[in-house]
Amino acid sequence: MDYKQLNIDNISFFKEIIGADYVFSDNQSILNYSHDETEDLSYPPEVVLKPVNTEEIAKILKYCNSKNIPVTPCGARTGLSGGSLPIFGGVALSVERLNSIIEIDERNLQATVQPAVINQVFRDAVELKGLFYPPDPASKGSCSLGGNLAENAGGPKAVKYGVTKDYVLNLEVVLPTGEIIWTGANVLKNATGYDLTALMIGSEGTLGVITTIVFRLIPLPTKNITLFIPFGSVEKACESVSAVFRAGIIPSALEFIERDAIDWTLKYTDVKLQINDDVKAHLLIEVDGNDMDVLYKECERIFEVMQEFECGEILLADSETQKNQLWQLRRAIGEAVKSNSIYKEEDTVVPRAELAKLLKGVKAIGKQYGFQSVCYGHAGDGNLHINIIKGEMSDEDWNKKLTLGIREIFELTKSLGGTLSGEHGIGLVQKDYMDIVFCEKALNLQKGIKNLFDPYGILNPGKILK
Ligand code: LAC
Ligand code: ZN
Repeated sequence: MDYKQLNIDNISFFKEIIGADYVFSDNQSILNYSHDETEDLSYPPEVVLKPVNTEEIAKILKYCNSKNIPVTPCGARTGLSGGSLPIFGGVALSVERLNSIIEIDERNLQATVQPAVINQVFRDAVELKGLFYPPDPASKGSCSLGGNLAENAGGPKAVKYGVTKDYVLNLEVVLPTGEIIWTGANVLKNATGYDLTALMIGSEGTLGVITTIVFRLIPLPTKNITLFIPFGSVEKACESVSAVFRAGIIPSALEFIERDAIDWTLKYTDVKLQINDDVKAHLLIEVDGNDMDVLYKECERIFEVMQEFECGEILLADSETQKNQLWQLRRAIGEAVKSNSIYKEEDTVVPRAELAKLLKGVKAIGKQYGFQSVCYGHAGDGNLHINIIKGEMSDEDWNKKLTLGIREIFELTKSLGGTLSGEHGIGLVQKDYMDIVFCEKALNLQKGIKNLFDPYGILNPGKILK
């Protein structure tokens, strides 16, 4: 892609449209918007723009489209695949001032919000009305809903309740030309033409900028219990996962955590837990509903299933303090791994009964290529986060040989019926592997869609597709 550098006229135009106070080119702003949470990657934009509404965004995009200026939309920049890295410089378009909950429609169990609302702020607001917005990425306290849509974020509750796309009814979107569209309608069923809403979700800011979101909500379950289950064998832990569902239970979370991940996170947080030396992995399971007796019965059934897979002593957490400690630990794993070593994270997903095979294969590939991996993730969804640790690897091996190892991991994932990313997206860091899971025709269809929306390639260029 050939983009020219911004000049003084471009900057003056931006100042005219959104006001000089919202056009930033100081070092600190450039640094802040040069990264998200992906590895240690940094790509500085030339300017950061913070428009206040849809109309300002439309004017910016129309202008950039006519001048061939790359625009990278960004939310809270907590992403893990490099989706909001301005890799060609140009404009970092922050939607952070579009941060209101416009309406919570209690009659229809719907809400209309702007993209910069923080996930946790939204879930708290709807909870006050007895409603529930399930998608809960680990970063829910800091990630924004617009970013969640861009990456089709999941989180622990996806196993029972589904991912972000399952809660979006309708979107206002600004196209690269500056035109504004609505993608659907505020209805629960919609068989009207191609599904533009679904197309936008997970498109990582490459097709348009989402400026308003209409969500559907569900009634809030009022009770839950968390189980923390140790295993002496990683394989047995993985194998037990699909048995829970076969026993007729759909937990509201079913997470897998390898021993190293727990140890590193215990050091990183102030959570106190005693774990026996022979424990190799844990499952963290939550059941939810409205009747404690029913939930205790489900736990008993889970106990029975787990005994068949030689689990250790199960911790049943029904007090808020215990539950919070366990979930604090689980949610901090990503940060703990990051603080421990240079790493690369793969977000593999396979049919859930294939999890044990995936994990075994990943360890074998690690041995072959000389890397250590720490794995954890949403086992109930077959979604395994594989953190490859640099450790003692030379820079040469890390930068060159490792790519072959990662390719093997993805080939294994594909051979098990899985794919590259369950919930973090492709962004910058996985785009070189798309040929593993899509044939040329399917890739060309995707490129055709990109060209239709963004013929000049100004919107988040260099993401998803090569
Ligand atoms: C998690 C993030 C990394 O599951 O997806 O912790
Ligand atoms: Zn995750």
